[in-house]
Amino acid sequence: MYKEKVNRVVLVGTGAVGCSFAYSMINQGVAEELVLIDVNEAKAEGEAMDLNHGVPFAPSPIKVWNGSYQDCESADLIVITAGLAQKPGETRLDLVEKNTKIFKDIIKNIMQSGFDGIFLVATNPVDILTYVTWKESGLPKERVIGSGTVLDSARLRFSLGKYFDVDPRNVHAVIIGEHGDTELPVWSHATIGSEQVDTVLEGKNDLKKECLEDIFVNVRDAAYHIIQRKGATYYGIGMSLVRITKAILNNENSILSVSAYLNGEYGQNDVYIGVPAVINRSGIREIIEIKLNEKEQEQFNHSVDVLKETMKPVL
Ligand code: NAD
Ligand code: LAC
Repeated sequence: MYKEKVNRVVLVGTGAVGCSFAYSMINQGVAEELVLIDVNEAKAEGEAMDLNHGVPFAPSPIKVWNGSYQDCESADLIVITAGLAQKPGETRLDLVEKNTKIFKDIIKNIMQSGFDGIFLVATNPVDILTYVTWKESGLPKERVIGSGTVLDSARLRFSLGKYFDVDPRNVHAVIIGEHGDTELPVWSHATIGSEQVDTVLEGKNDLKKECLEDIFVNVRDAAYHIIQRKGATYYGIGMSLVRITKAILNNENSILSVSAYLNGEYGQNDVYIGVPAVINRSGIREIIEIKLNEKEQEQFNHSVDVLKETMKPVL
């Protein structure tokens, strides 16, 4: 009998971020199975019921159910969005202790199922929790990925697109480093279409280079601005997670700024941090080493130092 290969994605954490991811997954027709797990079982059940009622309008069929850790055994990808989120005034790093504790428990449960696929982590502080996931799971580093600075880079592309009045999909600009306060934009390699940002600015008297720094600061602090207004961020990250999921399940070899384990790249070791990487069905195929200028490399090193220092007490 013909047995079709189905892609199973398990989502752990059906809060605001998890459900934005799930909703976006269904709307984009990304996988055939989506399993929802949450410590609040009734919440996961209610979300599965609600999402299923949208399936008749989805571009392709998908089975959605509230499951258990046993469903992880044959999963291709597990996306983790469980844990505490920042309250107004809190930084992402403030969440490290409580979310590390939650993660150790979740990863143990998942690995007991016999899971042997790919992890995608979004819970904050995402770089540190991706490291915790790698350590606790024992899976190869290529198969443990954090959402890293994919969202920050999307925010930058959106903002530059608005400033230059072009489609953000034609803006190639990345943010690297911690997904947080020490991240940095790589201006030395930012292009609009195929032109360097500096060259584009030369031809436009009404646009100023100084404004780019303000644009970056607004991007870096975007989560604070949104949390102050509506309590949480979730649509942007939900769609960022789907973008990474598609790159994995469709074997796209897409370059995205995810949180990846550095083993000598960028002169750094033993840290998960946001850098551009080629993503495909095997996870992280390779890390792209952009030639940073001196100032960028210094800022990147500082970001690594902050992550390592914050990680010390919880590992
Ligand atoms: P939320 O409070 O809405 O949802 C969290 C969910 O996790 C809840 O449903 C809760 O029941 C569940 N949960 C808690 N402990 C659990 C456990 N042990 N097992 C299973 N489920 C558990 O929070 P949210 O707004 O969805 O945010 C989730 C996380 O995502 C936060 O850490 C937040 O900072 C992070 N986040 C990351 C990014 C990013 O770019 N990486 C963007 C936005 C939010
Ligand atoms: C973000 C979260 C809070 O929206 O990390 O950037």
